Amino acid sequence: MPDILITDDGPIRTVRMNRPEKKNALTFAMYEAMAAAIEDAGTDADLRCLLIAGQPSGFCAGNDIGDFVQMAQTGALGTPIVRFLHALARCEKPLVAAVEGNAIGIGTTMLMHCDQVVAAPDAKLSTPFVALGLLPEAGSSLIAPRLMGHARAFSLLVMGHPLDAAAAKEAGIVNTIADDVDGEALKTAREIAALPAQGVLTARRLMRGSAEEIVARIDAEAEAFKARIASPEARAAFSAFLNRKR
Ligand code: COA
Repeated sequence: MPDILITDDGPIRTVRMNRPEKKNALTFAMYEAMAAAIEDAGTDADLRCLLIAGQPSGFCAGNDIGDFVQMAQTGALGTPIVRFLHALARCEKPLVAAVEGNAIGIGTTMLMHCDQVVAAPDAKLSTPFVALGLLPEAGSSLIAPRLMGHARAFSLLVMGHPLDAAAAKEAGIVNTIADDVDGEALKTAREIAALPAQGVLTARRLMRGSAEEIVARIDAEAEAFKARIASPEARAAFSAFLNRKR
C-alpha cells in the first residue's frame, strides 16, 4: 500500500496519510505525493473540496526524524517539504481535515491551512519545534498568532505546550469534535461541495487574504530553519529520538 492514498469520490478528493507503522511521520516521497494531489486538484473543476486524513493510530507524527538528520547534513529544508507547504498555501479549494490521535509538528501546522478541522476526542496537537532545536514552519509563525492571539500561539509554537481536542477547539484550530471523525469530516466536505462552487472559491479567497504573503513567510521560516537544523541542539534531539531505548 502506498504511504499516501488518494481517492476521488465525486467532488471530494481524500488525501490520506498511510504510514501507520511510523505514526504517519512524513517522508520526502509523502510530501511530493500530497503536494501533487493538492496541485492537481486545483486544476480539476470537478473537485470542490479536499479532505486530509490520517489513521486511527495517529494523524501525523511530523517530519520523519531520519530525514531531518539528512537535512542537517545538507543544511536546507528539503524541496519536497517546501513544495508541499507552497501547495497548501496556494490551494484554492476548501480543505477539511480529520484528526485522530497525535498531530505533531507539521501535523499541527498543516491544520492551520484548513478551513474546517474535525478532531476525535483523543486528538492531541503539538509543535515541539523549539525544544527540538528547530523553528515553527508552514507559515505558522504568521497564521497561529492571527488565529489564537500571540500568547496562546507562543505557548504552542515556542513553549511546545500541546493542545487536546477541547483546547484546540477553544484556540480556533479545531471546529468540531466527533467520535466518528472520518464520517463527520466527509459530511462537512460534502456540505461544502454542495454549495455554489464559485461562491465558495471567491468567499474563501477574500477571507484568507494573500496566499503570497503566507508563501513569503514559509520561505522566510525555511531560511531561518537552515541555521537551526544543523545546530547542536537539533542534532542532539534527533539522536536522542533515534537512539532511545524502549
Ligand atoms: N520520524 C521517524 N520515525 C518516527 C517518527 C518521526 N517523526 N515518529 C514516530 N516514528 C516511528 C518510531 O521510531 C517507531 O518506529 P520503530 O517501530 O521502527 O521503532 C514507530 O514510528 C512507532 O513510534 P513509537 O514512538 O513506538 O510510538 P508511540 O505510540 O510510543 O509514540 C509518538 C508515538 C508520535 C508520540 C512518538 O513516536 C514521537 O514522539 N514521535 C516523534 C514526534 C516528533 O518529534 N516529530 C517531529 C516534530 S517537528
